[in-house]
Amino acid sequence: MEQAQTTSEPMGRSFGTSDTSLWGRLKAPMGRKALLGLSFVMASSAALADEGAADYRYHTMEAIGGHLSAVVDILQGKVAHQAHLAPHANAIAEMAAISDTLFPEGSIGGNAKAAIWEQPEAFAERMAAFQDAAPAFRDAVVGGGDIGPAFQTLGQACKGCHDDFKDE
Ligand code: HEC
Repeated sequence: MEQAQTTSEPMGRSFGTSDTSLWGRLKAPMGRKALLGLSFVMASSAALADEGAADYRYHTMEAIGGHLSAVVDILQGKVAHQAHLAPHANAIAEMAAISDTLFPEGSIGGNAKAAIWEQPEAFAERMAAFQDAAPAFRDAVVGGGDIGPAFQTLGQACKGCHDDFKDE
């Protein structure tokens, strides 16, 4: 009889009584977690910030890479979304404009090479080339002419930095 009743209630639990209520079961672990989180943050906020900066950089670069791959899909004719070129080009230009803030001192991690911080001038040059090429590509797309040369220059800007400053 007990067995039959359990089977007919797939959740197997009622949320009505104090110690099996959803809130009661969530509240205690949440409290402990928050306390643990606080002491962890206090002990290692610098390390966490660096790790966060490296993660954020990687995710932002992946976003840039996604937009460029989408542009290539359109240029190769995989899809006919010519009207999407401008939004992708615009996104790349906007991301390029913030890219110089993605490499704070101490944020080594992921595929970023130490050379970024050891040769800051050479790195800044590659960054500047990217920050010129990205809005130039957007302008070429929006202008409606031949976007080939601007696309080449943009691709070279990515590669030029990756060759010396990114692993793999
Ligand atoms: C000034 C240097 C620089 C420029 C310019 C640059 N990148 Fe990156 N990119 C990096 C570095 C460094 C990493 C590694 C980041 C990390 O792992 O923290 C990276 C990572 C990436 C990743 C993540 C995958 C991987 O292999 O690590 C993609 C995708 C990517 N870049 C695409 C692009 C594209 C597309 C462009 C041009 C439109 C571009 N990048 C321009 C330096 C650059």
